[in-house]
Amino acid sequence: MIISGGTLSTGRVERIPFGLAASNVEAYNRGSLELLDERLAEQHPAMEKGAVWIMHLFEFNDLAHIPASIRQTLLELMESCNRGFRSFNQRAASEAMDQAKQKSCRTIVELGAGVAPLTKLLAEDARQTGIRLVPCDLFPDVASYRALEQSYPGVVKPLYSQVDYSRQHDFGPDALAALVGTFHHIPPKLRKQTLQAITKSAGRVMVFEPLRNTPISIFLVFFSIVPALLLPLFGMGSRGALRRVLLCWLLPVVPCIFLWDGVVSCLRQWSPARWQRELREIAGPTRPPTVTAGIHSLVVSW
Ligand SMILES: C[S@@+](CC[C@H](N)C(=O)[O-])C[C@H]1O[C@@H](n2cnc3c(N)ncnc32)[C@H](O)[C@@H]1O
Repeated sequence: MIISGGTLSTGRVERIPFGLAASNVEAYNRGSLELLDERLAEQHPAMEKGAVWIMHLFEFNDLAHIPASIRQTLLELMESCNRGFRSFNQRAASEAMDQAKQKSCRTIVELGAGVAPLTKLLAEDARQTGIRLVPCDLFPDVASYRALEQSYPGVVKPLYSQVDYSRQHDFGPDALAALVGTFHHIPPKLRKQTLQAITKSAGRVMVFEPLRNTPISIFLVFFSIVPALLLPLFGMGSRGALRRVLLCWLLPVVPCIFLWDGVVSCLRQWSPARWQRELREIAGPTRPPTVTAGIHSLVVSW
């Protein structure tokens, strides 16, 4: 087995990724990207295990053994880009809240939440009365979740266990599942079954992608070098200031990784026509999909 770059090996995970507690290693071994690859190999025996990763290119963000400090800084930078330098996250939160109100949803589950940027904005929204906010991830960011749960008791109820959204869950018919900048991480051959799983998991689904697979969107990715170099300045005085100075200035690995992951993320995106085609059967006549494409973003809901 493989991940390009050789970060995972066949068999069990030997080191604890992302600082997970030892008790989570078994879950990680059973529910990780490796498993996705195995499942694919089962369904397509002719395909050599690992081919999925090679075809899907390679993002640092997906690597199991990327140091927690780098992963954390990448997620903070993504939030800074999408909330500070453009209002993508604010628009996503506003549209998710509109949808939740319109469809009388009682829960908004942020899947693949990272540091939970959508939950943060939704919690601040005065319209959220009575709506439970549930951030979760395959690699839950416990510190961010805990801070949000403490700031908004009774409103933010994170899932601290690992939640792989490529598998079916029961969030309920009155739940809205929201995915921000995460669906493109699912390998192409697993996307259909992932869409089926998410569709069955919640009464409504919204996918927000902050990039597109177009030359202009790829070109715009290179401007993210500006927020990447400014991140330590904005974060002065807050938790992780030294880490950001180290990883963005002294040893600028994070700006380089961010640019690479940004370009690969663009190349992994589906076109609006592809989204329509894929969802035609899965969403069914009761949940006709809506696809809205901007120059540098895409929103799909069903
Ligand atoms: C680029 S980050 C985006 C994080 C966050 N949504 C944001 O906008 O800042 C992608 C996130 O998706 C998560 N992820 C990828 N595949 C996943 C899966 N199958 N199940 C749950 N989370 C997943 C990763 O752990 C990561 O936190």
